[in-house]
Amino acid sequence: MIKVLFVCLGNICRSPLAEGIFNDLLKNEQLQDKVQVDSAGTGTWHIGELPDLRTINVARQHGIELTSPARQVQEDDLNEFDYILAMDLQNLDDINNLKELSPGKAKVFLMRDFDRPAKADKEVPDPYLGEDGQFDVIYNILEHSCKGFLEFLRKQEKL
Ligand code: 4NP
Repeated sequence: MIKVLFVCLGNICRSPLAEGIFNDLLKNEQLQDKVQVDSAGTGTWHIGELPDLRTINVARQHGIELTSPARQVQEDDLNEFDYILAMDLQNLDDINNLKELSPGKAKVFLMRDFDRPAKADKEVPDPYLGEDGQFDVIYNILEHSCKGFLEFLRKQEKL
């Protein structure tokens, strides 16, 4: 089983949405028995909470139900997961700091490393304090990045 972890700050907007979108792609391609997906946040504020309602709603518009409660990323995750994808540069920094404490096997990437090649932006912007329309923008970025990551994973892991 290949294990993939998506990480953002609060684990209530970007990473649970990425988890839902990626799971949906895996289901469509009958790969759910080969790849397992989870998400976590670097912060502690929302531990145990369901995703933000705006996240739940944008996922639902695309036929995806988000049900997993927020948790914080921990040292063990670097051993447990094969791939960790960070939503922004701060998340990446925080994960790399954890990696210094616990090197683990996880390969760490930025989510948008797998976005369409012409996109210069490196980060999935934090939508928490933004306007509602921001959630559609995030959905779009995550969908393209998830598709790109799945292509990468297929090659990398010969799926
Ligand atoms: P996320 O968004 O990292 O995409 O889940 C945020 C959610 C909550 C907070 C920040 C970002 N917060 O500061 O509570």
